[in-house]
Amino acid sequence: MHKTIDPKILYFGTPVVLISTINEDGTYNLAPVSSVWWINQSCMLGMSSKSQTVTNLLREGQCVLNLPSAELVEAVDRLALLTGKSPVPEYKIDMGYQYEGNKFGKAGLTAIPSDNVRAPLVKECPIQLESLVQKDHSFESPSAIKAFEMKIVTTHIDESILMDGGKSYIDPEKWKPLIMNFCEFFSLGPKLYPSKLAEPFTSKFYNN
Ligand SMILES: Cc1cc2nc3c(=O)[nH]c(=O)nc-3n(C[C@H](O)[C@H](O)[C@H](O)COP(=O)(O)O)c2cc1C
Repeated sequence: MHKTIDPKILYFGTPVVLISTINEDGTYNLAPVSSVWWINQSCMLGMSSKSQTVTNLLREGQCVLNLPSAELVEAVDRLALLTGKSPVPEYKIDMGYQYEGNKFGKAGLTAIPSDNVRAPLVKECPIQLESLVQKDHSFESPSAIKAFEMKIVTTHIDESILMDGGKSYIDPEKWKPLIMNFCEFFSLGPKLYPSKLAEPFTSKFYNN
């Protein structure tokens, strides 16, 4: 029996991404998001235009998308009620958000230089994707959401999650993403069932 409801959010469970960007004064910002979907060498991400990250993306046109593993959950949670935006937007004050100019320090994470963008990599994240903004799109008002089409230009992967035998692709059995599922943190369980797509997809796209 189904029931018709009026949900406030539709967060069905997506991997968390830490977006690192450069502020106006050259310092670093770092923000968790989960409204991201991936296709080929690109992704779409959705964020409130009241965030410092959106201000930085619109000005700089680049960022690093850092994917934390499940074991970094406490560091991610330390960032949850922080913003790099000053003054803090009214609606965030009501929710208990505070301004923080040193989010890397607060989270206990380390910024290291990227190869091809100005924003830093998060050293502790096993996946670090240097990315350029291709296009931005404003959701219909009164929504304050911005969507960004991002092109991944440089991909850094911790060797511990790569396939055995020196192959340059990620072993899904070794990668344990941190998942946000209706505002709570989860990870993935073991492989459920052998996938018919895996074999042809792997031989077509991952032949090195
Ligand atoms: C796990 C997690 C996922 C989040 N996902 C999103 C998201 O997809 N889009 C968004 O606008 N905010 C999201 N947020 C809230 C932002 O992190 C928050 O607005 C933050 O203050 C943005 O930082 P900034 O203002 O310094 O850019 C998420 C927060 C957490 C903890």
